Amino acid sequence: MGLRNAALVALASVTLLPIVWEAGQRAEVKPTMRKTAFGETADGQPVDLYVLTNKHGLEADITNYGGIVVSLKVPDRKGKLADIALGYDTLEGYEQDKAYLGAIIGRYGNRIAHGAFTLEGVTYHLPLNNGDNSLHGGIKGFNKKVWRAKDVSTPQTPALHLNYLSKDGEEGYPGKVSVEVVYTLTDGDELRIDYTATTDKETIINLTNHSYFNLAGAGNGDILNHQVMIAADRFTPVGANLIPTGEIRSVQGTPFDFRKATAISARINENDQQLQFGHGYDHNWVINNGRGTSPSPAAEVYEPQSGRVLEAWTTEPGVQFYSGNFLDGTIRGKGNKVYNRRYGFCLETQHFPDSPNHPQFPSTVLKPGATYHSTTIYRFAVR
Ligand code: GLA
Repeated sequence: MGLRNAALVALASVTLLPIVWEAGQRAEVKPTMRKTAFGETADGQPVDLYVLTNKHGLEADITNYGGIVVSLKVPDRKGKLADIALGYDTLEGYEQDKAYLGAIIGRYGNRIAHGAFTLEGVTYHLPLNNGDNSLHGGIKGFNKKVWRAKDVSTPQTPALHLNYLSKDGEEGYPGKVSVEVVYTLTDGDELRIDYTATTDKETIINLTNHSYFNLAGAGNGDILNHQVMIAADRFTPVGANLIPTGEIRSVQGTPFDFRKATAISARINENDQQLQFGHGYDHNWVINNGRGTSPSPAAEVYEPQSGRVLEAWTTEPGVQFYSGNFLDGTIRGKGNKVYNRRYGFCLETQHFPDSPNHPQFPSTVLKPGATYHSTTIYRFAVR
């Protein structure tokens, strides 16, 4: 470690400012995108894995099956890379997955009560796949589709363009929807996700990415010691079915106040009805400066042992902070590691759950002629 970095580390431990390692700390490499075969789906469609590497050697492996982030290698404070994204070694793992590891979620991320909503006087009924709710796009959502892929890298920045055409009526949703997702691994150590969608008939849309992170390395224990900051004064409380009640509640004085960085473990077992409903954290926070045309800070997570920091920025109005409560040790992930309860957390940037049934929430309606755009950035640093 050079003197300058040593001084920065000393400074950071006092002021808690994130530091990105200076170039030179890790040897710079040529940014690349490599394509390799990832296998064939059960119904015989070939699928690829795209390996994006930026100039600092950060690596994102993304498959065009479900637009899934399979692996994400980022440095710790000593510059040592670890894969911090939960996932599977094989395509078959993803085909059987029920936890949405790493996937693009659509058409509608999160829950719709009774799987029902009304547009232009017509009530649509989606298949129920989560008790009495429709969750994450249905039985075979965007996370289980083979997307068309195209390399859109520039010399400095590897980028993967994915596109999927969802038929009118697919999973019960109206309108033929064309969806594009661009993953870019920037030289600022960001995984940037740009979403675009258009429709030929009025419909609803709420796209997100469902990566589970463990900044100590996927499979290396639970995430309870991670410190979380969420830039939100308010959240949307839910009922026992995890559907928002419609209230927008202040986080003040509740275990949902993450305005100052707090360990996930600090309050997760408190006797609090919302925590009981969520089996821990599984709620939507209302981002203070959400809905901008450029991404605003939504959350920051710090893992003290490795020093890794993850910042989430988004143009979306909300973020679902999910503490991996439903992981139960039945998943054997990459490298044969078992994912037990709370071995990963998600920051699903999104519109609020069940928005189509809450007219006071920001609208998720997409009309023909309009274009849905959203951007989320996961930025990696160390402290
Ligand atoms: C989201 C939901 C959770 C759970 C996970 C997947 O985060 O809010 O309740 O369904 O997806 O297991």
